[in-house]
Amino acid sequence: MTNLTPQALFSLEGSVLLVTGAGGQLGSGIISAALAAGAKVIATDMETEPVSARMTQEGWPAEQVAITACDIRVRADIDAALALGTERFGEVNGLINNAGVSVFEPFLERPEESFDWVSEVNLKGTFLAIQAFIQYRSERDGGGTIVNIASHYGLISPDPRIYTDCLRRNSEVYGATKAGVIQMTRYFAVHGAEHGIRVNAVSPGGVLNPEAPQGEDFQERYGFRCPMGRMADTHEISGAVVFLLSRAASYVNGHNLVVDGGMTAW
Ligand SMILES: NC(=O)c1ccc[n+]([C@@H]2O[C@H](COP(=O)([O-])OP(=O)(O)OC[C@H]3O[C@@H](n4cnc5c(N)ncnc54)[C@H](O)[C@@H]3O)[C@@H](O)[C@H]2O)c1
Repeated sequence: MTNLTPQALFSLEGSVLLVTGAGGQLGSGIISAALAAGAKVIATDMETEPVSARMTQEGWPAEQVAITACDIRVRADIDAALALGTERFGEVNGLINNAGVSVFEPFLERPEESFDWVSEVNLKGTFLAIQAFIQYRSERDGGGTIVNIASHYGLISPDPRIYTDCLRRNSEVYGATKAGVIQMTRYFAVHGAEHGIRVNAVSPGGVLNPEAPQGEDFQERYGFRCPMGRMADTHEISGAVVFLLSRAASYVNGHNLVVDGGMTAW
């Protein structure tokens, strides 16, 4: 595969992607970008309504999208989503582990249930989806690609000084699980390789949410903390995901692509 055009390098024609957390901000943004690059998508979330609403809002073409409910803590749900993808599009050859949760109370007030919930979704759920996907691919001709959405807070601690008017003060368990996702990415880059599966991560910095903007004071302080002086836009994260899924990244495996405006660089 030499001398591919940029269009061929970054095209996702032929990709059939299972995306988790599709009803959320980044999940829906990633899906819009993947569809525009030619992929077909099984868009999953705990419930289908928010995903259907995103589909209408974003104008996703019906012939490229299947929607189903999938709790990533339940292996049978993931298997059923893969089966739906097979039925609708022939086979599934990509997985985007995007679903993730956090908790925001001060750590001294953290109930054990909160810690368990974040661990179960972010770590166990991500593991179960990878396990199901690799088993699914190994029962076919192998091959495929996985992108895990981690976080820059899997690499550094949040700076408590910037979380003033923002209620989303991030937690120790969130960072610990995202560090775990980055490590699992390396583990499965090694253990998926025998099945021809590439596994990479994207670690976003804070992403501006236009539908429910973070507080102005927080945005300003975050900007001061970040070399690029601002939060990310959703497309800046989805572009990195499309790159890792594409032929342009065919020799990229086990990488954690940090998309944080340089926040972890100082
Ligand atoms: N938004 C950011 O600033 C940011 C920064 C770094 C990393 N991330 C990561 O990006 C990913 C997406 O974040 P977002 O901001 O779009 O969040 P979001 O809350 O908008 O979306 C997350 C989605 O995951 C779904 N979900 C929760 N538990 C689930 C489960 N058990 N099974 C299936 N789906 C489940 C939710 O219903 C929701 O639709 C997360 O993994 C998050 O940790 C986000």
